[in-house]
Amino acid sequence: MSGNISFLKDVELGLSNKPKFISSHYFYDKAGDVLFQQIMEMPEYYLTNSEMEIFREQSETIIEAFSMVPTEEFELIELGAGDGKKTQHLLQALLQKEYNFKYIPVDISANSLQVISGRLRNLFPGLNIETRQGEYFQVLDALFRSPNPKVIMFIGSNLGNMVDEVAVQFLAKISRHLKSGEKLLLGLDLMKSAEIILPAYNDAAGITRDFNLNLLKRINREFGADFNIAEFEHVPEYDESEGIAKSYLKSTKAQKVFIRDLGRSFDFDEGEKIHTEISRKYNDMILNDLMKGTSLEIEQKFLDSRKYFADYIINKQ
Ligand code: AVJ
Repeated sequence: MSGNISFLKDVELGLSNKPKFISSHYFYDKAGDVLFQQIMEMPEYYLTNSEMEIFREQSETIIEAFSMVPTEEFELIELGAGDGKKTQHLLQALLQKEYNFKYIPVDISANSLQVISGRLRNLFPGLNIETRQGEYFQVLDALFRSPNPKVIMFIGSNLGNMVDEVAVQFLAKISRHLKSGEKLLLGLDLMKSAEIILPAYNDAAGITRDFNLNLLKRINREFGADFNIAEFEHVPEYDESEGIAKSYLKSTKAQKVFIRDLGRSFDFDEGEKIHTEISRKYNDMILNDLMKGTSLEIEQKFLDSRKYFADYIINKQ
């Protein structure tokens, strides 16, 4: 229940703020998880296919870049379990080369972990897998008490949902955890033209719109609010020079929305927007900038054939 209380607090804070803001963190309830799975199937959402191509075509080279000794046990820690379809290629390559490793997916959702471990155990009966449920950093603190060498994976451009200041903290923390020579495998969507990026956040089938609007439905469901979904519009933006895709929910008219569990209402002007998500796009310079105060350095970069997406091997000095 504590999760819901912090959600409710964040809704009150965010809707009282000017401009209004609610974190994309809260997209992912049951309905949101399903919608995100559907987004990944949309032709406009190139991120998944691009990164899938990298893992499908280049997993053998990626695992060599881990610089692990095949006979010495290491831990492959993945932050955010996802559906495991990309990681599958990597695991297959590691098993084929007879690496001695344990795969540890970490996720906040116990349900996702169960689904992914079921699938992977079925696919790779010999896989040594141990799931860890919880907040990334609490789990990392616990995991890093073991002496085994480690590789951390953070793929899917999930870093992109963090504002740069938070991403800096995140990378600094990972840097502190890794030992010299250990690697972070970091999957990032690259800066490119708005013609490619905007449709990825505004698919013609309207799944991304529903994904964004689900946030209001969720507030209705969980906190007895009376958002009229038909009176809010999904608005995506992308500024090429800044390299950040942003999503908003725009009130199409002046209105009041009542939230029962807060016992109060919130005013919207006509055209007023709630900012709900950022999805940062990267290049080497931006990444180097984010890692500036850390002991992390770019060691290798794996690209898809269109050069839309990059999986970086980051070395801890
Ligand atoms: C899961 C954070 C990578 O930002 O591209 C997809 C989430 N939001 N469509 C992204 C998302 C809208 C996605 N990440």
